[in-house]
Amino acid sequence: MVQNLTVNGDRRSSAADPITPLVDVLREDFHLTGAKPVCREGFCGACMVLLDGAPILSCLVPAALAEDCEILTVEGLATDGGLTPIQSALEACDAVQCGMCFPGMVVTLTHLLTAKPGATRDDIRAALTGNICRCTGYERIVEAALIAVAAK
Ligand code: FES
Ligand code: FES
Repeated sequence: MVQNLTVNGDRRSSAADPITPLVDVLREDFHLTGAKPVCREGFCGACMVLLDGAPILSCLVPAALAEDCEILTVEGLATDGGLTPIQSALEACDAVQCGMCFPGMVVTLTHLLTAKPGATRDDIRAALTGNICRCTGYERIVEAALIAVAAK
């Protein structure tokens, strides 16, 4: 049993074994499929979510460690049906291809732009080193993040 998770503002619990990876509880019990269990080894960043505001790899975190914490997944970022500035910029720049990496990218960039609103190109590239994309070459993603910075 895993109790007292706050997921995108809602209090949740799960009958899952406490050592179940958080990404699996999010996907299978709460039907939040944004975070992707791609490598399950901490290399790709596709499972990134925010735990009490900090980016974590949810494939490596047992769900019990998230008890009494605030979890924010990519599904919880947009409010009132509107995209966030980074989501809008990524869409406008046509930065996504297959999309497998993108929920993690969006979570990482959301954290960066909150922690460092004036992030530079180097800051953005450094932040994305933990998010592997096999499709895009990254340049449009970085350009989108710079547009989101400039829009603040
Ligand atoms: S699935 Fe978690 S880092 Fe790849
Ligand atoms: S868009 Fe395909 S892996 Fe990034």
